[in-house]
Amino acid sequence: MAAPVQVGDPCGIVIFGASGDLAARKLLPALFDLYREKHLPGNFYILGAARRSWSDDEFRNRMQKAVAEHSRFGQPSRERWDSFVEKLFYQSLDASKADDYHKLSERMAALDKNQKLNGNHLFYLSVSPALYGGIIEQLGVAGLAQEGDGRWVRVIIEKPFGRNWETARDLTRQTQKVFREEQVYRIDHYLGKETVQNLAVFRFANAIYEPLWNRNHIDNVQITVAESLGVEERAGYYDQSGALRDMIQNHLLQVLCLVAMEPPSEFAAEAVRREKLKVLQSIQPMLERDVSLNAVRGQYGPGELGGGKVAGYREEEGVGDDSATETYAALRLFINDWRWAGVPFYLRTGKRLPHKVSEISVQFREAPLQLFACTAMQPCEPNLLTIRIQPDEGIGLRSIVKTPGLDVIGRSVDLDFAYSEEFEGSAPTAYETLLLDCLQGDNMLFASGPWVERAWQLVMPVLNAWEAEKPKDFPNYAAGSWGPAAADELLARDGRKWQLG
Ligand code: BG6
Repeated sequence: MAAPVQVGDPCGIVIFGASGDLAARKLLPALFDLYREKHLPGNFYILGAARRSWSDDEFRNRMQKAVAEHSRFGQPSRERWDSFVEKLFYQSLDASKADDYHKLSERMAALDKNQKLNGNHLFYLSVSPALYGGIIEQLGVAGLAQEGDGRWVRVIIEKPFGRNWETARDLTRQTQKVFREEQVYRIDHYLGKETVQNLAVFRFANAIYEPLWNRNHIDNVQITVAESLGVEERAGYYDQSGALRDMIQNHLLQVLCLVAMEPPSEFAAEAVRREKLKVLQSIQPMLERDVSLNAVRGQYGPGELGGGKVAGYREEEGVGDDSATETYAALRLFINDWRWAGVPFYLRTGKRLPHKVSEISVQFREAPLQLFACTAMQPCEPNLLTIRIQPDEGIGLRSIVKTPGLDVIGRSVDLDFAYSEEFEGSAPTAYETLLLDCLQGDNMLFASGPWVERAWQLVMPVLNAWEAEKPKDFPNYAAGSWGPAAADELLARDGRKWQLG
């Protein structure tokens, strides 16, 4: 029997920053796809709010183009779009003007009435992070954060949540003045990816991995998120951020938590979030003086990628020619608990690497005794479980088998599972999953306040050490290469190597 279609609660969705890139590329296409697949209720509306003085029609026309370009189902049929567009509205708003929130509130009241809604509201903050605090405060002043009489109010906050531990803590405090923690959904789109969600199922639904999933059998874990793109049009943001803030403090640490956490008491938000926080709490904090032993930074220079020449980071539009921002970061972390003590977790991410790939490599220890011959041409390497997050989603398990022939010679081969071969159709995008979860009040796939603060605390020594000493060797990797030589040395010092690249 097919599972019943999950449907979000009837509500009004207000998107701050609706004229921006994220709304056009991700949010509206995701909402349309949810609507198309009947995951949105009959009664709802989407109210775009941004500074530009667009009319409803102008907003609708722009979103039609965006959806045609980015929906995972391609161009929508005329009929479907016409029914969806009736739910789309726009309100011009200056986020710093109190008066504009009163106008917003009046508009929402009218739309609630029109759509026969009880006042459930979701606010999506897809604006510059500098505006988060002010918008949250104004929502409070305008009475828009108020729940009661069976109606809920939720707020989704895009990353980055703060730019260091202090600012994250300040934002938490500001948020807490207006919203309860249960109302706050800190989004990390990595958690919405199918293959990232699969980590919990793969680990805890199969009996054979759990007994091996510890320091007795695992030698090291590597998490790689490589991108071939540069900074594109985002230099204004990225140059103030860098790879550690942009990717490691959130996405890579989230993935690490899913790999390392203990089985939760149940597969429910609170239990899972508790276990993930415990992982961060067990990570050995780095001392600033040890940063050079455990962290590597890099910045790409000119190089070749995809058959063509590409510019170095400092030549990108909007980047200064002495920029010290890292476009690559690698860390070596240890989790001090009974399961993982002594097992290094190597994390790395970078822009302008040879191709886009996100992968987790779990390397097992060598067999205690090698009974079979292997050759230099056909080496026998220890078992390696590779979880491919994207693209080419799937799982591989490197194992040693006998090479056919009269001699008994072993060789490593990959036992492989590919999503594309096993499952039909396209999976929901991360934003579809996360928006629907939020509309249903399920915050399992969102970062909790304590998790975000702890993640910042863990990266602070690295940020501080890097800030204190400007890099002397930037750019230190060519676009199209696998990053700086120092990242290879980080593992070579431990007698290991990156599994990918
Ligand atoms: C975002 C970062 O959070 O994730 C970007 O800000 C990065 O710099 C992006 O490119 C990567 O996401 P994905 O889903 O393409 O791996």
